[in-house]
Amino acid sequence: MNKKSLVVLISGSGSNLQAIIDAVAKQQIDATISAVISNRASAYGLQRAAKANIKTIVIDHTEFTQREDFDSALCRQLDELKPDLVALAGFMRILSDNFIQQHKGKILNIHPSLLPEFKGLDTHRRVIEAGKTLHGASVHFVDNELDSGPVVLQAEIAVENNDEQNLAKRVLEQEHIIYPIAIQWFIEGRLTLVNNQVLLDNISMQQPAKWITDKLVMPGKQQ
Ligand code: GRF
Repeated sequence: MNKKSLVVLISGSGSNLQAIIDAVAKQQIDATISAVISNRASAYGLQRAAKANIKTIVIDHTEFTQREDFDSALCRQLDELKPDLVALAGFMRILSDNFIQQHKGKILNIHPSLLPEFKGLDTHRRVIEAGKTLHGASVHFVDNELDSGPVVLQAEIAVENNDEQNLAKRVLEQEHIIYPIAIQWFIEGRLTLVNNQVLLDNISMQQPAKWITDKLVMPGKQQ
C-alpha cells in the first residue's frame, strides 16, 4: 500500500521541518514528504529539504497583489500533490477562508504558546512580561482565524527565569518533540476533525493531550 503523504509549508529556518524529516527517516512518522513549499526563496528550510532529497517549491508571496491569488497558486500546487496532510511549520502567511475551507481538517500548525493564550508573534516576550510561570507550544488544526482552531497536543514547560532567548530555545525543543507525535497520529488515522471537534481514536477530546516532562498525558488518563 502507498504511504500517506504530507506537504510542509515553511517561511524560515525550518527546524520543525527538520524534526519532521528526521521522524520520517526514523519511521516515527510513517509517511512520505512529497514537497516542501516556501513563500520565501531564502528560507533556510528549503536547503534542509533539498539535502533530504525532498522536492522544493517556492511560491513567492511578493509576486501576488492579492492574498487570494497567492492562495490559489498554493491550492493549484496542492491539487497536483494531493497530500493527506498539510503541515504548517513556521509558515508566516495567513491563509484565506477559501483555502482553509478546501483543506479543512487536513491542516495542522505548531504555535509557540499554550493556545488559546498568546496568539500571534513574540509569544516568549509576552509570556515573560505577563509574569506567567507556565509556557509551551501547541499543535492545532487550522481554521480561518489566526492561531485558532482546535488544539490537539500541548507541551508545557516552566518559565523558570526571564531569559527570553533561553525560553524560546526550550519551547522550540518541545515543538520538535510534539509536532511529529501529532503528525503521526493524523497519518495513522487516529486523529481527525469532525464537526470542529478533535477526535483521537474516535473519542472526542475535551482537552488537548499534554506533553509534560517527557511524558504523554492523555486527557483523563496517563500513558
Ligand atoms: C516556531 O516557533 C513555530 O512554532 C512558529 O514559528 C517558529 C518556526 O521555527 N510558528 P522553524 O522555522 O520551524 O525553525
